[in-house]
Amino acid sequence: MNQISDPSGVTNVPIVIAIDGFSSCGKSTLAKALAKKLGFRYIDSGAMYRAVTLYFLQQGLKIEQLQRMPEDELEKLLDRIHITFEINELSGISEVTLNGVNAEKQIRDLRISDLVSPVSAIPAIRHRMVDLQKSYGAKKGIVMDGRDIGTTVFPQAELKLFMTARKEVRAKRRFDELNEKGFMVTVDEVQRNISERDHTDTNRSESPLRQAEDAIILDNSNLNQQEQLDFALNLIDRIMAESTHAS
Ligand code: DC
Repeated sequence: MNQISDPSGVTNVPIVIAIDGFSSCGKSTLAKALAKKLGFRYIDSGAMYRAVTLYFLQQGLKIEQLQRMPEDELEKLLDRIHITFEINELSGISEVTLNGVNAEKQIRDLRISDLVSPVSAIPAIRHRMVDLQKSYGAKKGIVMDGRDIGTTVFPQAELKLFMTARKEVRAKRRFDELNEKGFMVTVDEVQRNISERDHTDTNRSESPLRQAEDAIILDNSNLNQQEQLDFALNLIDRIMAESTHAS
């Protein structure tokens, strides 16, 4: 296997890091920091479901129509959706594009957050996204966050983290993040959205949000970003050492 070297000069084996958990637990913050530190690719799988939701909204399609739509019709609709990731040159972080247009800001709107869970519960949509996500991981050296990454997308991932935090901590974090991005929302709206999404994501029939049996729980209610990064890097050091010995 090719070896790559990380910014700290330590030789790394490219591995797959799967980060799952409830909404607004800081998955993407940790995933981005890890990808940067290790020189890995970062893929935000939630952004893919959000981009699909944005497309349906642009087409004026309602969730009830999508839920009732025959599968072959839905497949044709999905054929018209092209999702890619491009690197933002300022931040160095990958951002989602929908049919060639950067959609990173639009997909964070609360209108999308309110619709994305039921949209992502539709099996044909999940299958299409999961196939795409798997293709991104073919060469390893990737950090992906979402709800079913450790269970469905990369069940063989070398590191699986399951993130959680107290509800009020999560709501406050998401509220601050949205405010910073210029979205006018109330804490109540954010709290309601988080609870509804947790419920839908956990109770859907197709690859529901679950902790993989071999995932390591990271409750970050009382941890800052550096502490979370250190926690994950310690685990990765161990995995890297084991892989180097094994190869
Ligand atoms: O990570 P996020 O909050 O941006 O994700 C938005 C929604 O997408 C989430 O409520 C459920 C869905 N999702 C999913 O079903 N599976 C994933 N792997 C990632 C997200």
